[in-house]
Amino acid sequence: MKKYIILLLLVLAGLTSCNHRQENTDWDYMGDFDMYYSKAYESYAPNPNFKDGKTLQKPVAGTIAREFMPYPFKDKFGDKAKAGKLLKNPLKPSKENLERGKMKYDIYCAICHGKTGKGDGHLTKLVKNGKKLYPGVPANLTAGYIHAKPDGEIFHVITMGSAIMGAHASQINTDDRWRIVLYIKNNLK
Ligand code: HEC
Repeated sequence: MKKYIILLLLVLAGLTSCNHRQENTDWDYMGDFDMYYSKAYESYAPNPNFKDGKTLQKPVAGTIAREFMPYPFKDKFGDKAKAGKLLKNPLKPSKENLERGKMKYDIYCAICHGKTGKGDGHLTKLVKNGKKLYPGVPANLTAGYIHAKPDGEIFHVITMGSAIMGAHASQINTDDRWRIVLYIKNNLK
């Protein structure tokens, strides 16, 4: 009889020890000791320490983020030729620069322009109800007219965007934008 009671208790303990909804972990042994729980504010959490009550703050006026040089041109189309004339690619097409250029190109550009640059990226192939999901026609970056452009002009397009294409200045740092230009010129032919 005693055996059955113990067995019954064990089964009951088993049934009640799990939280069916699995919303919390209930017991943690080291809790605060082991820094299980971050005391830092999450990026989008409200924050009483700042005037606007937000955790994510804008960069302080007059400061520059590391590796992100301010861009001297403001006009997307009007300054394109000027950028082509005045900006010189500071980097050489070394193996390292081309490899990193490819890595960044594959991440940020290939989705539209395609891995080989032909303008046939994954986004251009998505169709829903017989309609293309992406309305733009990405330029063929292997085309002669692209290769005839000075490096600075392609750099300007990556930095400011183009007609439909968005600006990439906030995602890709200055040197990596030049590396992408090198990669296009040297490897996407
Ligand atoms: C979301 C899609 C998309 C992404 C991502 C994208 N592009 Fe484009 N790109 C386009 C489209 C569409 C055009 C043609 C229409 C236009 O000029 O906006 C274009 C045009 C261009 C041109 C030609 C501009 C000119 O002066 O005629 C270049 C060069 C270019 N892209 C380079 C890049 C590079 C390099 C990247 C990655 C850093 C990139 N693009 C990322 C869609 C994209």
